[in-house]
Amino acid sequence: MKTKLTQLLNIDFPMIMAPMFLVSNEAMLTAAMKGGIAGTFPSLNYRNPGEIDQVLDKLNEVKSKTPKGTYGVNMIVQKTNPLYEKHLKVCVEKKVPFYITSLGSPKEVILKAHSYGAKVFCDVTNLEHAQKCFDLGCDGFIAVGQGAGGHAGPNSLQILVPALQKAFPNTPVIAAGGIASGAGILSMLTLGAEGVSVGTRFIASTEAGVSDAYKNAIVSSKMDDIVMTEKISGTPCTIINTPFAKKIGYKQNWLERALSNNARTKKYFKMWVQLTGMKRLEQSVKPGNYQTLWCAGQSVELINEISSCADIIEKMKKETVEAYNRLTAEINA
Ligand SMILES: Cc1cc2nc3c(=O)[nH]c(=O)nc-3n(C[C@H](O)[C@H](O)[C@H](O)COP(=O)(O)O)c2cc1C
Repeated sequence: MKTKLTQLLNIDFPMIMAPMFLVSNEAMLTAAMKGGIAGTFPSLNYRNPGEIDQVLDKLNEVKSKTPKGTYGVNMIVQKTNPLYEKHLKVCVEKKVPFYITSLGSPKEVILKAHSYGAKVFCDVTNLEHAQKCFDLGCDGFIAVGQGAGGHAGPNSLQILVPALQKAFPNTPVIAAGGIASGAGILSMLTLGAEGVSVGTRFIASTEAGVSDAYKNAIVSSKMDDIVMTEKISGTPCTIINTPFAKKIGYKQNWLERALSNNARTKKYFKMWVQLTGMKRLEQSVKPGNYQTLWCAGQSVELINEISSCADIIEKMKKETVEAYNRLTAEINA
Protein backbone atom coordinates (compact mmCIF):
# COMPACT_ATOMS: atom_id res chain seq x y z
CA MET A 1 0.00 0.00 0.00
CA LYS A 2 1.07 3.54 -0.69
CA THR A 3 -0.11 6.53 1.35
CA LYS A 4 1.60 9.74 2.48
CA LEU A 5 2.59 7.92 5.68
CA THR A 6 4.19 4.94 3.93
CA GLN A 7 6.12 7.38 1.75
CA LEU A 8 7.21 9.64 4.61
CA LEU A 9 8.48 6.75 6.72
CA ASN A 10 9.37 4.37 3.89
CA ILE A 11 7.24 1.53 5.25
CA ASP A 12 5.20 -1.19 3.59
CA PHE A 13 1.83 -0.68 5.30
CA PRO A 14 0.39 2.55 6.83
CA MET A 15 0.40 1.43 10.45
CA ILE A 16 2.23 2.59 13.56
CA MET A 17 2.50 0.30 16.59
CA ALA A 18 1.62 2.98 19.16
CA PRO A 19 3.94 3.90 22.03
CA MET A 20 2.74 2.35 25.30
CA PHE A 21 4.21 3.09 28.69
CA LEU A 22 5.57 -0.12 30.33
CA VAL A 23 4.25 -2.26 27.45
CA SER A 24 6.33 -1.40 24.34
CA ASN A 25 9.70 -3.12 24.19
CA GLU A 26 12.52 -4.03 21.85
CA ALA A 27 10.99 -7.38 20.81
CA MET A 28 7.73 -5.68 19.78
CA LEU A 29 9.57 -3.00 17.80
CA THR A 30 11.72 -5.59 16.06
CA ALA A 31 8.58 -7.50 15.03
CA ALA A 32 6.98 -4.26 13.82
CA MET A 33 9.96 -3.43 11.62
CA LYS A 34 10.09 -6.96 10.22
CA GLY A 35 6.33 -6.72 9.51
CA GLY A 36 6.88 -3.60 7.39
CA ILE A 37 5.25 -1.12 9.77
CA ALA A 38 6.59 1.50 12.23
CA GLY A 39 7.19 0.45 15.83
CA THR A 40 7.40 3.05 18.61
CA PHE A 41 8.11 3.21 22.34
CA PRO A 42 7.88 5.95 24.96
CA SER A 43 11.38 7.06 25.99
CA LEU A 44 10.21 6.75 29.61
CA ASN A 45 10.15 2.95 29.24
CA TYR A 46 13.94 3.15 29.68
CA ARG A 47 14.63 5.05 32.87
CA ASN A 48 17.97 3.56 33.97
CA PRO A 49 21.18 5.33 32.88
CA GLY A 50 22.52 4.05 29.53
CA GLU A 51 19.50 1.78 28.88
CA ILE A 52 17.94 3.82 26.07
CA ASP A 53 21.34 4.15 24.31
CA GLN A 54 21.68 0.37 24.10
CA VAL A 55 18.12 -0.16 22.87
CA LEU A 56 18.55 2.47 20.15
CA ASP A 57 21.76 0.82 18.95
CA LYS A 58 19.96 -2.51 18.64
CA LEU A 59 16.96 -0.96 16.88
CA ASN A 60 19.21 0.86 14.43
CA GLU A 61 20.84 -2.45 13.63
CA VAL A 62 17.47 -4.14 12.98
CA LYS A 63 16.37 -1.16 10.89
CA SER A 64 19.46 -1.43 8.69
CA LYS A 65 18.37 -5.00 7.84
CA THR A 66 14.66 -4.29 7.37
CA PRO A 67 14.38 -1.63 4.66
CA LYS A 68 10.56 -1.56 4.71
CA GLY A 69 10.11 -1.07 8.45
CA THR A 70 11.11 1.70 10.80
CA TYR A 71 10.86 2.85 14.41
CA GLY A 72 10.19 6.01 16.37
CA VAL A 73 10.38 7.34 19.92
CA ASN A 74 7.59 8.97 21.88
CA MET A 75 8.65 11.97 23.92
CA ILE A 76 6.41 13.24 26.69
CA VAL A 77 7.25 16.92 26.22
CA GLN A 78 5.74 18.05 29.52
CA LYS A 79 7.90 20.06 31.92
CA THR A 80 7.14 17.38 34.51
CA ASN A 81 9.07 14.71 32.57
CA PRO A 82 12.43 14.67 34.43
CA LEU A 83 14.24 12.67 31.71
CA TYR A 84 13.08 14.71 28.72
CA GLU A 85 16.33 16.64 28.06
CA LYS A 86 18.58 13.61 28.57
CA HIS A 87 16.47 11.32 26.38
CA LEU A 88 16.11 13.84 23.56
CA LYS A 89 19.89 14.32 23.46
CA VAL A 90 20.53 10.57 23.14
CA CYS A 91 17.79 10.14 20.52
CA VAL A 92 19.28 12.91 18.39
CA GLU A 93 22.79 11.42 18.74
CA LYS A 94 21.48 8.01 17.67
CA LYS A 95 19.50 9.59 14.81
CA VAL A 96 16.08 8.19 15.71
CA PRO A 97 14.07 8.12 12.42
CA PHE A 98 10.90 9.74 13.79
CA TYR A 99 9.21 11.05 16.92
CA ILE A 100 5.74 11.17 18.39
CA THR A 101 5.22 14.01 20.86
CA SER A 102 2.52 14.13 23.49
CA LEU A 103 1.27 16.42 26.29
CA GLY A 104 3.07 19.72 25.69
CA SER A 105 4.90 21.89 23.15
CA PRO A 106 6.78 19.89 20.50
CA LYS A 107 8.91 22.93 19.51
CA GLU A 108 12.32 21.64 20.61
CA VAL A 109 11.75 18.10 19.35
CA ILE A 110 10.76 19.44 15.92
CA LEU A 111 13.83 21.71 15.73
CA LYS A 112 16.25 18.96 16.74
CA ALA A 113 14.63 16.21 14.65
CA HIS A 114 14.56 18.37 11.54
CA SER A 115 18.26 19.20 11.98
CA TYR A 116 19.03 15.68 10.70
CA GLY A 117 15.93 14.98 8.58
CA ALA A 118 13.85 13.01 11.11
CA LYS A 119 10.06 13.40 11.14
CA VAL A 120 7.80 14.49 14.00
CA PHE A 121 4.15 13.55 14.48
CA CYS A 122 2.21 15.27 17.24
CA ASP A 123 -0.62 13.77 19.27
CA VAL A 124 -3.63 16.06 18.93
CA THR A 125 -7.21 15.77 20.12
CA ASN A 126 -8.65 18.97 18.60
CA LEU A 127 -8.04 21.62 15.92
CA GLU A 128 -6.59 24.23 18.32
CA HIS A 129 -3.74 22.00 19.44
CA ALA A 130 -3.23 20.87 15.85
CA GLN A 131 -2.86 24.51 14.75
CA LYS A 132 -0.06 25.05 17.32
CA CYS A 133 1.79 21.95 16.12
CA PHE A 134 1.27 22.94 12.49
CA ASP A 135 2.69 26.44 13.17
CA LEU A 136 5.77 24.81 14.70
CA GLY A 137 6.29 22.74 11.54
CA CYS A 138 5.23 19.20 12.52
CA ASP A 139 5.23 16.54 9.80
CA GLY A 140 1.87 15.01 10.70
CA PHE A 141 -0.83 14.65 13.34
CA ILE A 142 -1.76 11.63 15.39
CA ALA A 143 -5.48 12.24 15.81
CA VAL A 144 -6.29 10.69 19.18
CA GLY A 145 -10.01 10.04 19.41
CA GLN A 146 -12.62 8.75 21.83
CA GLY A 147 -12.09 5.34 23.39
CA ALA A 148 -8.33 5.29 22.71
CA GLY A 149 -6.03 3.58 25.19
CA GLY A 150 -4.21 6.10 27.43
CA HIS A 151 -5.12 9.80 27.30
CA ALA A 152 -8.10 9.43 24.98
CA GLY A 153 -9.47 12.50 23.23
CA PRO A 154 -13.05 13.76 23.62
CA ASN A 155 -13.85 13.72 19.89
CA SER A 156 -14.98 10.94 17.59
CA LEU A 157 -12.48 9.97 14.88
CA GLN A 158 -15.30 10.12 12.33
CA ILE A 159 -15.30 13.90 12.90
CA LEU A 160 -11.72 14.60 14.00
CA VAL A 161 -9.96 12.92 11.05
CA PRO A 162 -11.86 14.69 8.23
CA ALA A 163 -11.84 17.98 10.20
CA LEU A 164 -8.03 17.87 10.50
CA GLN A 165 -7.67 16.81 6.90
CA LYS A 166 -9.83 19.71 5.72
CA ALA A 167 -8.08 22.29 7.90
CA PHE A 168 -4.54 21.09 7.06
CA PRO A 169 -4.81 19.45 3.61
CA ASN A 170 -1.07 18.92 3.19
CA THR A 171 -0.33 17.50 6.65
CA PRO A 172 -0.89 13.74 7.00
CA VAL A 173 -3.38 12.61 9.65
CA ILE A 174 -2.84 9.30 11.44
CA ALA A 175 -5.90 7.98 13.25
CA ALA A 176 -5.53 6.56 16.79
CA GLY A 177 -8.15 5.08 19.05
CA GLY A 178 -10.26 1.96 18.85
CA ILE A 179 -8.59 0.45 15.79
CA ALA A 180 -7.98 -3.28 16.12
CA SER A 181 -9.11 -4.73 12.79
CA GLY A 182 -8.55 -4.29 9.07
CA ALA A 183 -12.07 -2.89 8.69
CA GLY A 184 -11.13 -0.25 11.26
CA ILE A 185 -8.03 0.64 9.24
CA LEU A 186 -9.99 0.86 5.99
CA SER A 187 -12.62 3.08 7.60
CA MET A 188 -9.95 5.55 8.73
CA LEU A 189 -8.27 5.61 5.31
CA THR A 190 -11.69 6.25 3.77
CA LEU A 191 -12.18 9.24 6.09
CA GLY A 192 -8.94 10.76 4.83
CA ALA A 193 -6.34 9.40 7.28
CA GLU A 194 -2.96 8.48 5.77
CA GLY A 195 -2.43 5.76 8.34
CA VAL A 196 -3.39 4.43 11.75
CA SER A 197 -1.74 4.07 15.14
CA VAL A 198 -2.69 0.94 17.07
CA GLY A 199 -2.00 0.46 20.78
CA THR A 200 -4.36 -1.72 22.84
CA ARG A 201 -4.37 -4.59 20.28
CA PHE A 202 -0.64 -5.08 20.87
CA ILE A 203 -0.95 -5.45 24.66
CA ALA A 204 -2.40 -8.91 23.96
CA SER A 205 0.78 -9.95 22.15
CA THR A 206 3.22 -12.65 23.20
CA GLU A 207 6.06 -10.08 23.14
CA ALA A 208 4.44 -7.41 25.35
CA GLY A 209 6.37 -6.99 28.57
CA VAL A 210 3.39 -7.29 30.92
CA SER A 211 1.83 -10.05 33.04
CA ASP A 212 -0.40 -12.75 31.53
CA ALA A 213 -3.18 -11.55 33.83
CA TYR A 214 -3.13 -8.13 32.09
CA LYS A 215 -3.06 -9.75 28.62
CA ASN A 216 -5.96 -12.07 29.57
CA ALA A 217 -7.90 -9.07 30.89
CA ILE A 218 -7.50 -7.42 27.46
CA VAL A 219 -9.01 -10.53 25.84
CA SER A 220 -11.88 -10.94 28.32
CA SER A 221 -12.86 -7.27 28.77
CA LYS A 222 -15.64 -5.56 26.82
CA MET A 223 -15.97 -1.91 25.78
CA ASP A 224 -18.18 -1.08 28.77
CA ASP A 225 -15.42 -2.28 31.11
CA ILE A 226 -13.26 0.72 30.11
CA VAL A 227 -13.44 3.79 32.37
CA MET A 228 -11.50 7.04 32.62
CA THR A 229 -9.45 7.78 35.72
CA GLU A 230 -7.52 10.84 36.93
CA LYS A 231 -5.74 8.71 39.53
CA ILE A 232 -2.71 7.84 37.39
CA SER A 233 -1.39 11.06 35.90
CA GLY A 234 -3.91 13.72 36.83
CA THR A 235 -5.07 13.79 33.19
CA PRO A 236 -7.99 11.41 32.42
CA CYS A 237 -6.66 8.06 31.23
CA THR A 238 -8.52 4.92 30.11
CA ILE A 239 -8.23 1.78 32.25
CA ILE A 240 -10.01 -1.54 32.74
CA ASN A 241 -12.51 -1.19 35.58
CA THR A 242 -10.89 -3.73 37.91
CA PRO A 243 -12.00 -4.12 41.55
CA PHE A 244 -8.95 -2.07 42.61
CA ALA A 245 -9.80 0.74 40.16
CA LYS A 246 -13.32 0.83 41.60
CA LYS A 247 -11.97 0.86 45.14
CA ILE A 248 -9.69 3.89 44.69
CA GLY A 249 -12.21 5.85 42.57
CA TYR A 250 -11.64 7.76 39.38
CA LYS A 251 -11.53 11.44 40.31
CA GLN A 252 -8.96 13.53 42.16
CA ASN A 253 -10.31 14.83 45.49
CA TRP A 254 -10.71 18.56 46.27
CA LEU A 255 -7.27 18.82 47.88
CA GLU A 256 -5.54 17.13 44.94
CA ARG A 257 -7.39 19.41 42.54
CA ALA A 258 -6.48 22.51 44.58
CA LEU A 259 -2.80 21.51 44.66
CA SER A 260 -2.72 20.92 40.89
CA ASN A 261 -4.29 24.32 40.21
CA ASN A 262 -2.28 26.41 42.69
CA ALA A 263 0.47 28.37 40.91
CA ARG A 264 3.06 27.59 43.61
CA THR A 265 2.35 23.89 44.10
CA LYS A 266 1.19 22.95 40.58
CA LYS A 267 4.47 21.77 39.04
CA TYR A 268 5.68 19.74 42.04
CA PHE A 269 2.29 18.26 42.84
CA LYS A 270 1.80 17.15 39.23
CA MET A 271 5.27 15.59 39.25
CA TRP A 272 4.41 13.76 42.45
CA VAL A 273 1.06 12.51 41.05
CA GLN A 274 2.78 11.26 37.89
CA LEU A 275 5.55 9.58 39.83
CA THR A 276 3.14 7.77 42.14
CA GLY A 277 0.93 6.89 39.16
CA MET A 278 3.94 5.46 37.32
CA LYS A 279 4.89 3.37 40.35
CA ARG A 280 1.31 2.08 40.66
CA LEU A 281 1.23 1.15 36.96
CA GLU A 282 4.64 -0.50 37.26
CA GLN A 283 3.38 -2.72 40.08
CA SER A 284 0.19 -3.46 38.10
CA VAL A 285 1.92 -4.94 35.07
CA LYS A 286 3.92 -7.41 37.18
CA PRO A 287 2.66 -10.97 37.72
CA GLY A 288 0.81 -11.72 40.96
CA ASN A 289 -0.24 -8.14 41.68
CA TYR A 290 -3.86 -7.58 42.71
CA GLN A 291 -3.78 -3.80 42.98
CA THR A 292 -4.33 -3.59 39.27
CA LEU A 293 -4.54 -0.41 37.21
CA TRP A 294 -4.47 -1.71 33.66
CA CYS A 295 -4.45 0.90 30.94
CA ALA A 296 -6.44 -0.08 27.81
CA GLY A 297 -8.85 1.38 25.26
CA GLN A 298 -12.33 0.33 24.14
CA SER A 299 -10.95 -1.83 21.32
CA VAL A 300 -10.67 -4.61 23.97
CA GLU A 301 -14.16 -5.45 22.66
CA LEU A 302 -12.58 -6.61 19.38
CA ILE A 303 -9.63 -8.55 20.79
CA ASN A 304 -10.17 -12.28 21.21
CA GLU A 305 -6.73 -13.80 21.48
CA ILE A 306 -3.12 -13.32 22.49
CA SER A 307 -0.93 -13.65 19.37
CA SER A 308 2.56 -12.77 18.23
CA CYS A 309 3.07 -9.24 16.89
CA ALA A 310 3.91 -10.71 13.47
CA ASP A 311 0.55 -12.54 13.39
CA ILE A 312 -1.37 -9.46 14.53
CA ILE A 313 0.23 -7.34 11.81
CA GLU A 314 -0.34 -9.95 9.08
CA LYS A 315 -3.96 -10.46 10.16
CA MET A 316 -4.69 -6.72 10.11
CA LYS A 317 -3.09 -6.35 6.67
CA LYS A 318 -5.15 -9.25 5.31
CA GLU A 319 -8.36 -7.99 6.90
CA THR A 320 -7.86 -4.54 5.33
CA VAL A 321 -7.77 -6.06 1.85
CA GLU A 322 -10.74 -8.33 2.65
CA ALA A 323 -12.75 -5.36 3.94
CA TYR A 324 -11.90 -3.42 0.77
CA ASN A 325 -12.92 -6.31 -1.50
CA ARG A 326 -16.16 -6.90 0.40
CA LEU A 327 -17.06 -3.22 0.16
CA THR A 328 -16.22 -2.81 -3.54
CA ALA A 329 -18.19 -5.97 -4.34
CA GLU A 330 -21.19 -4.47 -2.51
CA ILE A 331 -20.81 -1.10 -4.20
CA ASN A 332 -20.51 -2.67 -7.65
CA ALA A 333 -23.31 -5.23 -7.15
C1 LIG B 1 -1.07 0.74 27.96
C2 LIG B 1 -0.97 2.02 27.19
C3 LIG B 1 0.07 2.89 27.45
C4 LIG B 1 0.19 4.07 26.71
N1 LIG B 1 1.27 4.88 26.94
C5 LIG B 1 1.45 5.98 26.18
C6 LIG B 1 2.62 6.78 26.34
O1 LIG B 1 3.48 6.52 27.16
N2 LIG B 1 2.74 7.89 25.55
C7 LIG B 1 1.78 8.21 24.61
O2 LIG B 1 1.96 9.22 23.92
N3 LIG B 1 0.69 7.47 24.42
C8 LIG B 1 0.50 6.37 25.18
N4 LIG B 1 -0.59 5.56 24.96
C9 LIG B 1 -1.52 5.90 23.85
C10 LIG B 1 -1.11 5.18 22.57
O3 LIG B 1 0.11 5.66 22.10
C11 LIG B 1 -2.17 5.32 21.45
O4 LIG B 1 -2.49 6.67 21.23
C12 LIG B 1 -3.44 4.55 21.78
O5 LIG B 1 -3.12 3.30 22.32
C13 LIG B 1 -4.29 4.33 20.54
O6 LIG B 1 -5.54 3.82 20.88
P1 LIG B 1 -5.88 2.24 21.00
O7 LIG B 1 -5.25 1.80 22.27
O8 LIG B 1 -7.36 2.24 21.05
O9 LIG B 1 -5.31 1.55 19.81
C14 LIG B 1 -0.76 4.39 25.71
C15 LIG B 1 -1.81 3.49 25.47
C16 LIG B 1 -1.94 2.33 26.18
C17 LIG B 1 -3.05 1.38 25.87
